[in-house]
Amino acid sequence: MTHVSVKVDGAAYEDEVEPRLLLVHYLRDRLGLTGTPVGCDTSNCGACTVDLDGQSVKSCSVLAVQADGCAVTTVRGLAVDGEWTALQRAFHERHALQCGYCTPGMLMAARDLLRENPRPAPDEVRQALEGNLCRCTGYQNIVRAVLAAAGTTPAPGDSADPTRSAGSAGSADRAEEVPA
Ligand code: FES
Ligand code: FES
Repeated sequence: MTHVSVKVDGAAYEDEVEPRLLLVHYLRDRLGLTGTPVGCDTSNCGACTVDLDGQSVKSCSVLAVQADGCAVTTVRGLAVDGEWTALQRAFHERHALQCGYCTPGMLMAARDLLRENPRPAPDEVRQALEGNLCRCTGYQNIVRAVLAAAGTTPAPGDSADPTRSAGSAGSADRAEEVPA
């Protein structure tokens, strides 16, 4: 067993863990923080995405011992004093989810994008979320929500499609495709 000292969503934890324990299983099974789902367990779907010391990571591809001494933020840690962030509100208001299984990972990856690029272009949003799979939505509203949170969505009545890339006719259709 290996000792880990980690802060998760602002709370400090000390534990003895098996060196092979994955961070996602530590969060869910040891700490009971089930807001971070396991979608594939093979680093493909992105559902398990969390923030590890400022970097968005797939927590099924990180060992709990690698988080020793780190701060982890999960989807549960996003709201401030019970108030959703603009990004969370945008997902809600833009219907950017159906079953919601991918949503924690989408929110964490989108948050990471907006931190580094507060005004992303639609294609940059798609690129940033390409490691996060959604089986339900077709991605269109997810992209819209991220753009809305970034303040880049045109006002109602504006003919511009916020999911369409400037100067690339037909690119809006790509939102229907599964990101690579
Ligand atoms: S559960 Fe981690 S990427 Fe799918
Ligand atoms: S909303 Fe169901 S997987 Fe994305």
